[in-house]
Amino acid sequence: MQQATSSTSQSTSAYFEEERSADVVNARMGDAVSPRLKQVMSVLVKHLHAAVKEIEPTHDEWFAAIRFLTETGQMCNEWRQEYILLSDILGVSMLVDAINHRRPNGATPNTILGPFYVADAPQYDNGANICLDGKGEPLVVCGRVTDIAGKPIPNAKLEVWQTNDDGFYDVQQKGIQPDSNLRGVFTSDGEGYYSFKSVKPRHYPIPADGPVGKLLGAMGRHPNRAAHLHFIVTAPGYDAVITHIFTPDCPYLPEDAVFGVKRELIADFKQVNDMDAAQTVGLEAPFWSVTWDFTLAPSSKPPRATL
Ligand code: BEZ
Ligand code: FE
Repeated sequence: MQQATSSTSQSTSAYFEEERSADVVNARMGDAVSPRLKQVMSVLVKHLHAAVKEIEPTHDEWFAAIRFLTETGQMCNEWRQEYILLSDILGVSMLVDAINHRRPNGATPNTILGPFYVADAPQYDNGANICLDGKGEPLVVCGRVTDIAGKPIPNAKLEVWQTNDDGFYDVQQKGIQPDSNLRGVFTSDGEGYYSFKSVKPRHYPIPADGPVGKLLGAMGRHPNRAAHLHFIVTAPGYDAVITHIFTPDCPYLPEDAVFGVKRELIADFKQVNDMDAAQTVGLEAPFWSVTWDFTLAPSSKPPRATL
């Protein structure tokens, strides 16, 4: 008799009840599940159920959400990752990055990678011009790579990429822009210095012709990114820095579509109107100039053992 009572109450508690909905679902987790997966899934279920309880969606609204996620998946291909874009516009990409790159004071902060990085871009000597389409206002970028104590880091690899003056990356306009337009790889010299020529970046929209763009519009947001140059700076023994530098005069700095702007990454772009200076760098006056130093923090992970 006693056995029947206890089995009845146990099975009742395993049945769905609105008030205990997340607990009912999480209680179903297997015993041998990896502790991390168990943590991730139970937290997700807890917060998802709390959100649904707060929102109280109609069936139509819930179906619209499912349709949005379906269309987001259908938009993904080898070149387009609409889910990353969704994570970007919701600030989640920046949050995950912030959690994983808590650097010491003075170290150059990370920001969003974005979808337009290409490994194996052309390698250039310092001073080379990466602008191959001749559009835009000329720019000289130079600076130094050091550690947090100010010691120069020679042979650091600096990968740089940006849009052209029409607001597109080369990979978005294959056959229209020259291949590898506005991207290249530089190496810091024996004293940590690097330099290259380019054009002043301008603001541009993230790809907004899919479900994420539609969602942005529905939320009363625009798709524009503040004008920037992308960098990845790497050197053995240091944390790789994935970052940008932003122009100070861009109206989208405080409302970058993917929350990529950090105050410490807004640079001082100066207009130079001096013929001698122009001749020295091999440009015509006027041109823009920005000096930007990268400060690398020691690697937070031990180097991987090699066989
Ligand atoms: C970019 O800066 O290239 C970018 C970042 C996030 C989403 C789309 C583009
Ligand atoms: Fe970009």
